[in-house]
Amino acid sequence: MSLRELPVFRDLRGFARYLEDRRLLARVGQPVSLVHEMTEVHHRTLLAGGPALWFEQAQGEGGPAAMPVLANLFGTAERVAAGFGVGPERIRELGEALAAMREPAPVDGLADAMSRWPMLRAALAAHPQQVSHPPCQAQSFLGQNVDLGRLPVQTCWPGEPAPLITWPLVITRPPDGGAGDTAGMNIGVYRMQVLDRDRVIMRWLAHRGGAAHHRAWAARGRDMPVAVAIGADPATILSAVLPLPETVSELHFSGVLRGERPRVAPALTVPLLVPADAEIVLEGYASATETAPEGPYGDHTGYYNSVENFPVMRVSAITMRRNPVYLTTFTGRPPDEPSVIGAVLNDLALPSMKRQMPEIADVWLPPEACSYRIAIVSIRKTYPGQARRVMMGFWGMLPQFNYTKTIIVVDEDIDVRDWRDVAWALATRLDASRDVMVTPNTPIDYLDFASPEPGLGGKLGLDATRKIGAETRREWNRTLAMAPDVKKRVDAIWPLLSAGFQFRAAP
Ligand SMILES: Cc1cc2nc3c(=O)[nH]c(=O)nc-3n(C[C@H](O)[C@H](O)[C@H](O)COP(=O)(O)O)c2cc1C
Repeated sequence: MSLRELPVFRDLRGFARYLEDRRLLARVGQPVSLVHEMTEVHHRTLLAGGPALWFEQAQGEGGPAAMPVLANLFGTAERVAAGFGVGPERIRELGEALAAMREPAPVDGLADAMSRWPMLRAALAAHPQQVSHPPCQAQSFLGQNVDLGRLPVQTCWPGEPAPLITWPLVITRPPDGGAGDTAGMNIGVYRMQVLDRDRVIMRWLAHRGGAAHHRAWAARGRDMPVAVAIGADPATILSAVLPLPETVSELHFSGVLRGERPRVAPALTVPLLVPADAEIVLEGYASATETAPEGPYGDHTGYYNSVENFPVMRVSAITMRRNPVYLTTFTGRPPDEPSVIGAVLNDLALPSMKRQMPEIADVWLPPEACSYRIAIVSIRKTYPGQARRVMMGFWGMLPQFNYTKTIIVVDEDIDVRDWRDVAWALATRLDASRDVMVTPNTPIDYLDFASPEPGLGGKLGLDATRKIGAETRREWNRTLAMAPDVKKRVDAIWPLLSAGFQFRAAP
């Protein structure tokens, strides 16, 4: 892909080296416990905009971990953009290319589509390449030797029932494709509770790709083959997190981002292909029938989730690179790593949203509102009632916006990313008797226990735009602004005039 400006990162360690050379990754030599302590160290580092952390001496309950542990990999927007292969300022361009992939097919057919959308052409051409003796199988543990206790799995928060694999790339495929089916392959990040030496719980929410595949296998009465990569090149990791169109496989898309065909190899004990350069791979079968109660675990909402049953996977093989590194993170009240990634994805999705509703100037899903529960949308308003149209369009735009409980619509002069601006618009442009839209009984995040029923709740739309036409009978006062010539004159004398001022933090 022509957008890529950083070197190709074929694996996690290559990306880590790149970050370390730029002081964006730091090595931690002191012993740090995998139980709670690592979360606290990671949390503090993330809050301060600090580096990725390579823990050389992670401590398990039974002693030192057998391998180093990497955390806070995507703890800043800069590192997320680097994972996509670009600088932070080019994320919107990448979003433009993604938006083109989502457009419906033009009348002139596929050839025309290919010529217009280089990203689509690249995605289709990014056929995985099968390699023999893949690095990820340099060591393998099968049968009686399978023991998840070999891995430095974190216990993130007090009161959690068992260690939790937090950055698994869960690879599945539908039952009708063969072992080599990479086009139908899904890769998603679904946390995994460790039950014992060879069993984990697969916590995929019902609308996820992995859950859909599992339903299809279970409907045929068959256990589903699963492979789980822990630690891979950043393009594969980020592709797994991206809400890609269903027709685009994460594996193929990772090749587009990386600018190199994905390297895969057959798993040893399940009919699936796995990323050849992953650090660690778990193989096994997710049972069609066996479930176990999962949690409670700390969630990205800032609460422990409710305990619920999810399918159990029995691990048939653990394979690893030589000297593997274990990738981990925690989820908690934002900011956490997923919320930092979410803010970058917000910008990545913006061009796509603008194509669907051209009046949209900007959109912000504040990370502190769990990255999707509140949306602030600024528009170029030209007709009465437009803010409500935008709210309804927004709720219908992408499946994940089902979970956006509150939409605040503002004019283009308001910076959606600045709560002070948004509060001013709410305080001066909204009237509760006219500008509030409440819609009951809509689909809602089932993790949201504020709604009266699980999965069903209300939506709130706040129209904080200036009112025009039939929306008001009153004259709308002009916005205060200093005359430009006065500003210019003061600009000229400001350095001298303010030379002796002491400035504190801005109010
Ligand atoms: C660190 C992290 C942990 C996540 N944990 C879960 C999880 O436990 N369950 C889940 O359904 N989604 C989880 N997600 C979100 C999904 O991985 C993400 O929405 C992905 O796009 C889903 O892919 P899919 O649409 O192919 O299913 C997590 C994301 C991240 C970044």
